[in-house]
Amino acid sequence: MLNKLTNLTKTNNKESKKDIQLDLSRIPRHIAIIMDGNGRWAKKRGLPRVAGHREGMKVVRKVVKRANELGVKALTMYAFSTENWKRPKPEVEFIMKLPEQFLLTYLPELIEENVQVRIMGEKKGVPSYTLKAVHEAVERTKHNDGLILNFALNYGSRYEITQAVRQLASEIEEGKIKSEEVDEKLIGSYMMSSEVGDPELLIRTSGEIRLSNFMLWQLAYTELWFTDVYWPDFTASDLDQAILDYQNRGRRFGGV
Ligand code: FPP
Repeated sequence: MLNKLTNLTKTNNKESKKDIQLDLSRIPRHIAIIMDGNGRWAKKRGLPRVAGHREGMKVVRKVVKRANELGVKALTMYAFSTENWKRPKPEVEFIMKLPEQFLLTYLPELIEENVQVRIMGEKKGVPSYTLKAVHEAVERTKHNDGLILNFALNYGSRYEITQAVRQLASEIEEGKIKSEEVDEKLIGSYMMSSEVGDPELLIRTSGEIRLSNFMLWQLAYTELWFTDVYWPDFTASDLDQAILDYQNRGRRFGGV
């Protein structure tokens, strides 16, 4: 089934009309996004870095809306990494207030749109007001069955894998599982994202071409899509373009 969508897409810095035809029967089930470039977006405008994060928060809302319209089942958004604590304290505090602000502003709409809010990451170190806001949203959306909006907050992939290995080792020690029972499926079930599964598509904005400790286990067969666009400038059309490019790639999973 081909659905013709007409969107405004940026071409050579000029807004021009471009037809994006997406095959709605092949929409990626799970999309993971590294939202990068907030600081540079702000700097370019002579604004403080946090202005970029504030703008980035609004883009999260727009992307959730578009993903939901297209039938995406899960979106995992990298909101704060275990390495982001190295940033200046006021910036960290600002980012930690964003989930609360985001949910205060948009939770009623998200509930209306049948979205389920989730969180993955290490809780230790995250301020209690941040956790409270997210947990309340998780609770209030737990009976929904639409798109899963999964915030990676204080998340680091190596930390996640280390926790999984530790948990497995202790269960082997306790005799609950045998070492020969350890396979990829079992390891995957110990990952924080086990509920949403592996992403089919990863998007990273801002021109950086690296994974920055994000979902290293889960991205083994994921299609990677990079754009120079800074996250606060990312639009629904950019999401469509990423999905179109994904649909034009041949996924062979190591086969022929
Ligand atoms: C990376 O850009 C961005 C972050 C570390 C923060 C991401 C947070 C948001 C987009 C808002 C999240 C919203 C919610 C609802 C939690 P950067 O600061 O590293 O940009 P730079 O590389 O240009 O400096």
